[in-house]
Amino acid sequence: METVFSGIQPSGELHIGNYLGAVRTWVALQDQYRCFYCIVDLHAITQPYEPAEMPRRIREMAIDLIACGIDPTKATLFVQSAVPEHTELAWMLASVTPFGELGRMTQFKDKSERNPENINAGLFTYPVLQAADVLLYGATRVPVGEDQRQHLELVREIVRKWNARFGDTFAEPQPLLSSTPKILGLDGQGKMSKSLGNTIGLREADAKIWDKLRAAATDPARARRTDPGDPDVCNVFTLHRFFSDDKRQQDVRAGCTTAGIGCIDCKKWLLEGMLGDLQRIARRRDELAAQPHKIDEILADGARRARAVARETMTRIRARLGLDAHGEPGTTG
Ligand code: TRP
Repeated sequence: METVFSGIQPSGELHIGNYLGAVRTWVALQDQYRCFYCIVDLHAITQPYEPAEMPRRIREMAIDLIACGIDPTKATLFVQSAVPEHTELAWMLASVTPFGELGRMTQFKDKSERNPENINAGLFTYPVLQAADVLLYGATRVPVGEDQRQHLELVREIVRKWNARFGDTFAEPQPLLSSTPKILGLDGQGKMSKSLGNTIGLREADAKIWDKLRAAATDPARARRTDPGDPDVCNVFTLHRFFSDDKRQQDVRAGCTTAGIGCIDCKKWLLEGMLGDLQRIARRRDELAAQPHKIDEILADGARRARAVARETMTRIRARLGLDAHGEPGTTG
C-alpha cells in the first residue's frame, strides 16, 4: 500500500477553501492509502504568532479535521513538533538542497514581499522541512494544491540530489493533484484565504455566512438581473457543485442561462446546501469539543505511531551519513 502524506498549518479554523480543496480529498484517500496527516506547527512559527495561543490553534484544527471526516483509526493524525525527527531530517536534507532553488520559491518571495520585516531563515528553508515531512514516512503520494506544486517539485529534486550522493534512499514523491474544480475567493480574485477575508470559516455564524455570500462575485458579464449568466465562469456555481445536489445544480444552470433566476436566488439556494453541510460538521465538532481528553489522546497516539516510523527512517539515514557510530540519540547520556 502506498503512503500519502499531507500537512496543514494550525490556522485555528478551517475555511471552506481548505475543506473543499484539501480535507475532503484527505478523507477520500484514507481508505485506499496509508495516510499521515500532520498539523505543521513548526512551519507556522515562521510567521509572527502568540505562543500562548498555539495549543488552542492546534487543538481546534484537530477537531475541525476530525469533524470533517478524518478518521484517526484509519489515518495517522499528529502534530509535527511531537516528532522531533522532522527537524533532524530537515537539517540533513538542507545539506543537499541548492540555495538558489530556495530563493526561487514563489511562496518565499511572496511572503518576503508582503512582510519585509520578517524575512527569517525558517521562511527560507520552509520547503526543506516540508521535504523532511514527506520523506520521513516514505510517502510517494502528496495531495497538494496548485500553490504547493513548486515545493513538491523541490522535494523531488532534493531526493535526486540525495540519492546521487548517498545512494538510493528515498522514492520521488508524486503530487496528487485534485480533480476538483478550482475555487476562487468570494471576491472572485485569487484563492480563498483566511487572511484575505475572502472565504467562509467553518465556524462562522449563519447570518455572517449569508452576508458574505450575498456580496460574493458572480459572472462579471451578468450586470443586470435580466442578463443571462454563464455558470461555467461563475465562482458561486462552482460552489454549488460541492454543496448542492444534481437537481439543484441543473435548476441553477437553467435559471442562470435564461435569466430565469437572479444571482441572489442562486445564492439563497447555495446557502441552503452549504448550511446543511456546515451544520453537520458543526454538530460533530461540538461533540468532540466536549471531550478534550479524547482529542489529546488521538494526537498523542498519532504522534506515537508517526514517531515509530520516523525513528526507523532516521536510523537508516544516520547510517547512510556515517553518523551512527558514536551513540544513538535517546539512548546515551
Ligand atoms: N506547506 C504546506 C501548506 O502551507 C503545508 C505542508 C507542510 C505540507 N508540510 C507538508 C503539505 C508536506 C504537503 C506535504 O499548505
